[in-house]
Amino acid sequence: MNIQTIMVVGAGQMGSGIVQVAAASGMKVLLHDISMAFIDKGLASINKQLSRGVEKGGLTEVSKTEILSRIQPLEQLEQAEQVDLVIEAISENMVLKTSLFQRLDTICPPMTILASNTSSLPITEIAAVTGRPAQVIGMHFMNPVPVMPLVEVIRGLETSQEVFEAVYKLSERMGKTPVEVKDFPGFVSNRILMPMINEAIFTVYEGVASVESVDTVMKLGMKHPMGPLELADFIGLDTCLSIMEILYEGFKDSKYRPCPLLRKYVKAGRLGRKSGQGFYSYH
Ligand code: CAA
Repeated sequence: MNIQTIMVVGAGQMGSGIVQVAAASGMKVLLHDISMAFIDKGLASINKQLSRGVEKGGLTEVSKTEILSRIQPLEQLEQAEQVDLVIEAISENMVLKTSLFQRLDTICPPMTILASNTSSLPITEIAAVTGRPAQVIGMHFMNPVPVMPLVEVIRGLETSQEVFEAVYKLSERMGKTPVEVKDFPGFVSNRILMPMINEAIFTVYEGVASVESVDTVMKLGMKHPMGPLELADFIGLDTCLSIMEILYEGFKDSKYRPCPLLRKYVKAGRLGRKSGQGFYSYH
């Protein structure tokens, strides 16, 4: 399995980061989203990131142009007949994801691998709506994708060894360190990270310490680059809540109950950086 052409579906923060890294490692990448406006926004953010690289001196203007020339916007999903791998990076919504995978299954040739960048939804369930469960796999990148070296490579129940090895090797070609993970709620990253963030929110909720104090303890005491509440704002509080719900539902264990303060903030529209307000204000 020689992966040369990739299609990324979803031009948001994660999708555009994946496109940038794949194109920078020499692959031809198609970028699709539900509208040309979303695709253009994704391309603009890639352009901005690469320009920053040129300004800092880590990248030449020529290599920036070469990277951009390998990225092609794709308005109609139906035109994606010749891709070796699709990486889905759309919203964390099972209904949206399964309907996309059903469409991809009818459009893409039988050998095309279908990967999901889901942060916690079950790969086995996504694979089951396709006629090719052996060709479906999880490829979970971390945010910001160009900076974080990890990719969790998640085997669904039916994922073939050949597909696993192809995606593992591709992650290495993209300059990442892949880690093999089985399909269980939250995989490894979010099973460990989200309860820590949730506990940090409980600490504030119970009045043990202020937002700033909790973050300072974890930054200075544990050398985390961001405090857990700053990180929650960065990830998005709606995403944190939905991952906690998946852990709670998946394990039926009260240790994963989402903090009421997290629910309250999400209901109020305080979603973190993207909404301008979370545990901190970004106005
Ligand atoms: N895109 C691309 N590059 C970025 C970036 C972005 N959004 N943000 C920062 N960078 C780059 C900068 O350009 C800079 O590069 P150079 O070293 O080449 O100059 C480097 O990252 C460091 O950035 P800064 O100096 O501006 O700031 P910093 O030192 O505070 O680092 C950070 C920023 C990398 C985001 C750092 O704070 C960090 O590592 N935070 C933790 C991030 C984290 O935990 N991510 C995982 C989230 S969980 C997840 O993604 C999984 C999930 O399913 C929810």
